[in-house]
Amino acid sequence: MSRIPEAFVEEVVSRSDIVEVIGARVPLKKKGKEFAACCPFHQEKTPSFYVTPEKQFYHCFGCGVHGNVVGFLMEYDHLDFPTAIEHLAGRLGLAIPREQGDQEQLDRITRLRQVTRLACDWFRDRLKQSPEAIDFLKRRGLTGETAARFALGFAPAGNRLESALGGRASHEELVATGLLIQRDDGDRYDRFRDRVIFPIRDPRGHIIGFGGRVIGAGEPKYLNSPETELFHKGFGVYGLYESRQVDQRPGQLIVVEGYMDVILLAQNGVAHAVATLGTATTGEQLTLLFRQTDRLVFCFDGDDAGRRAAVKALSVALPSMHDGRDLRFAFLPDGEDPDSYVRAHGKAGFERFVEQEALGFDRFLTLHLDESIPGDDTAARARKNKQAHQLIAQMPPGSLRRLTERQVDRHHGLFGKAMRESTESTGPTAAKRPPPAHSEEHTLLRLLLAHPRLVPKVRDESVWHGGRPPAVIARLLDDELRAEDRQAAEAQELIGIENEEIAAAMLADILEKRRRREAIEARKRVLRSGLTGKPPTG
Ligand code: UTP
Ligand code: MN
Repeated sequence: MSRIPEAFVEEVVSRSDIVEVIGARVPLKKKGKEFAACCPFHQEKTPSFYVTPEKQFYHCFGCGVHGNVVGFLMEYDHLDFPTAIEHLAGRLGLAIPREQGDQEQLDRITRLRQVTRLACDWFRDRLKQSPEAIDFLKRRGLTGETAARFALGFAPAGNRLESALGGRASHEELVATGLLIQRDDGDRYDRFRDRVIFPIRDPRGHIIGFGGRVIGAGEPKYLNSPETELFHKGFGVYGLYESRQVDQRPGQLIVVEGYMDVILLAQNGVAHAVATLGTATTGEQLTLLFRQTDRLVFCFDGDDAGRRAAVKALSVALPSMHDGRDLRFAFLPDGEDPDSYVRAHGKAGFERFVEQEALGFDRFLTLHLDESIPGDDTAARARKNKQAHQLIAQMPPGSLRRLTERQVDRHHGLFGKAMRESTESTGPTAAKRPPPAHSEEHTLLRLLLAHPRLVPKVRDESVWHGGRPPAVIARLLDDELRAEDRQAAEAQELIGIENEEIAAAMLADILEKRRRREAIEARKRVLRSGLTGKPPTG
């Protein structure tokens, strides 16, 4: 598509007023130098969404979304970048300068869209005249209404498309849209012959490509449009336009694999399903989907292929997992796909299945690693933990990432779980003690439990916080210690804590670190009291 000159984008952004643009969509209240509102991107009762005129930025302290005026329009109005710029330019009365040739290219795209529309209309007419195609769809449980909603068609056998369109589309345009195949030896033929046709539409309803399914047996079962100027595999998703006709802002989107899955879910009342069309999920698709909703549920077959597809989707999705977003994986029972499931169990049954069976992405991650890496000894768990952290490292920083990290650590027996188990086994008093709130204490405890002879070394150290420090302090400490501790913990798990010499060295290390930190804290207290004139406290 045409590229908008960078300088023009800057001009538009600098001349637009973010308060005005957001204020037209969200009721803003002035608060000092800023404006506040309940965040339009997540559910909340007290406003944590702020717009700063000075910086021309918005930020939500609740869910972490932020950006400039263009980003807001893209998120809120579901626009792509050029359209958001176009919109802002329009408000300012500016025309987008087109580089030489851009207008031509725009005209070309518009023209090719007309061609796919013409072909689609012709396929739809053919469907009405094909008893066998109608019969196939009926046997699959489709109503005429559903077929119309998804603009389903039928491409008859033979090579009839070009002459049927009677000059309304040129030979070159039919080849460019992938509808006609022109061989070097001069042979030309229709790409889709004797197939039920599924038009693939972009989010605004333009037909960018087609899928065609054989009616009886035959290979391949589905034939799809090739890469064209309109159709880029891995960019679009099937069913998004149709689902948005029903609900622009669904609470969640269900991502399935096939055309028929989307269509039969829709017919049974599950309108918010889209399909990746058999290709592995891409980052572009994820971005597009998360622009519609904050919660995605991937619905895969329960077999190995489904599992592999889920792992791929997970790794692609992690960089998009900002706070406030949710990603789940549901695996269907053997031999079922969403189409068969919803026909057997209805809308309520399918929704119950998704609600009850979908795994949170962190849970799916640990489950997957547990199954793919053999063994449950310390070394194996350390390996799993390491792999999990390598994946989580792709998440943007935020509470969701921190919580996920803590969750997998706990799962692998780091700090939380292993600690509780070992204290519980040492007797009633130990069992009652609340698990220490920060990980250095965990490590210390584990070392001492394994090597009671080292206890005298810490007797005179002020190492215990005496119960659970307030949540905020714990969080700050966690943040600060996370990186260090993770490495230490991994090393510790790898070598085991059996070796007393190593344990003693680790202990000395921890004590030394703590002494340094306490010295720093003491200096800070003195400094602070010097500044405020109050005597240093606790
Ligand atoms: P499925 O084989 O699960 O198809 O492939 P389906 O949608 O359930 O179709 P039915 O129920 O047998 O009619 C899932 C998706 O993978 C792509 C298609 O997008 C299909 O919807 N696919 C499959 C292909 O592109 N080519 C193929 O040959 C098969
Ligand atoms: Mn199927």
